[in-house]
Amino acid sequence: MFPDGVAAGDPRPGASTIWTRVLPDAGGAPVPLLWSVAEDPSFASVVAGGLVVADAGRGHAVTVAVDGLDADRWYHYRFETTGDVAESSRTGRLRTAPAVGSSPDHLRFAFGSCQQITSTWFNAHRALVEEPGLDFFLHLGDYVYVSDTGTLTVEDYREVYRRWRREPLLRDLHAQLPVVAMWDDGEFYNGVDAFGPAERLVAAKQAWFENFPQVDPGDQRLYRSLQWGGLADLPVIDVRSYRDPAVDDLVLTAPGGVAEPTRTTLGEEQLGWLKGVLGGSTAAWRLIGNPYNINPWRLVNLEFLRFFRPDLPTNPGVYAPNEAWDDYMVERRDLLQFLADEQVGPTAFCSGHTHVHLTTELKPDVDRPGSPIVAYDFCAGSLTTDPDPRNLLGDLPRDAAEEVLRVAERWVLTQNAPLLRYMNLVDQGYLVVDVTPEEVVVTTRLIDTYDPDAEPYDAARYRIRPGVDRLEKLPVARPTGTSN
Ligand SMILES: [Fe+2]
Repeated sequence: MFPDGVAAGDPRPGASTIWTRVLPDAGGAPVPLLWSVAEDPSFASVVAGGLVVADAGRGHAVTVAVDGLDADRWYHYRFETTGDVAESSRTGRLRTAPAVGSSPDHLRFAFGSCQQITSTWFNAHRALVEEPGLDFFLHLGDYVYVSDTGTLTVEDYREVYRRWRREPLLRDLHAQLPVVAMWDDGEFYNGVDAFGPAERLVAAKQAWFENFPQVDPGDQRLYRSLQWGGLADLPVIDVRSYRDPAVDDLVLTAPGGVAEPTRTTLGEEQLGWLKGVLGGSTAAWRLIGNPYNINPWRLVNLEFLRFFRPDLPTNPGVYAPNEAWDDYMVERRDLLQFLADEQVGPTAFCSGHTHVHLTTELKPDVDRPGSPIVAYDFCAGSLTTDPDPRNLLGDLPRDAAEEVLRVAERWVLTQNAPLLRYMNLVDQGYLVVDVTPEEVVVTTRLIDTYDPDAEPYDAARYRIRPGVDRLEKLPVARPTGTSN
């Protein structure tokens, strides 16, 4: 009756959202459901509940906003049918955030992106379930990969989510941990921007809201901000819905193109909102959920040519065809300069999308020695393997291909020195973020997605501390990838 399991969404002070989908009968009749939230897994102490109807208009999915709960604690929840023989969903766990004005001493969450159902295991998801003490999982999109040409209608998009939710380890993750979710382009079609076919974009977003524990505010807006008391502000931004189209030519040696000053990935309204959140934040930390990496990713740094070509634009180079913030250079510089000008406190971006692990110190102008480090970008690689980068190098044996990729990592680090601190083109996994008033520690956790029994391991770890203007590299059990 509950084929997709259950899920809980954004932790809020004393509130959260819960979600499920039911299998309708052949006629698609509405299905009444009882929902309940309890302090204990046996539901002896129910603290909230009600009736909700799953109907065809929403794909027989329901999202319930639950409030009136205590702040800063875990609860259990489930759904039940109302017939003579009631059927119950599995039990999920939800979490509320600490109260506004409180001073929590710890937050621990994980983030990642990009899960493909074709070839490898969802064992990163199993590992996330087993991670001790996570408060939620931040999923930064490419949750599904629709067909660019075949997924067009709401029903098409719904079918894709149903297919992904057949993964039992994905359902387990949702039952265990709240998800703070944002879409990337896999949820629409490759390379989506604000100028796609309006009906298709609306259909894709409708199916998204039907399949996540997130209430559509009425205009399908998804960017929002969470708070963890006075410890952290957690804006989650939408880089896709309002953006100008990507630029194909990523060789920056003349004005225009990616350096066109009007180009935007956030849109004017969202950029203003984000600056308001960051500028007004009094929390110890600002951790931004950012679906694609904001670090510059130069394959060749051409700044050395300035001696011969004083007319070169700022930050010239050949950039990776990555379809991310490199396409919006002026807006990025403006946002990072805002952090400097407004003396916004310590800030980091939690990013996804590229299938490559990248850890970077961010400056408004990477080529100007006096430009300050104002934030950090931690970009997670993919949760599953698709495609395996070792298979993209022709007929090279896997070991040799991996060595070539490690050489490429070292090359990219030199072209983006000294700010790019870590790169891993090969491996999959997720990042774990430990936040206290004194420090933020971000650990890259890698896992062999070909081996269903594989265990995750610590491959890189960096620490941010207020007053220390660079990332501090910490020791790990099994360093993997290229770092400095
Ligand atoms: Fe992806």
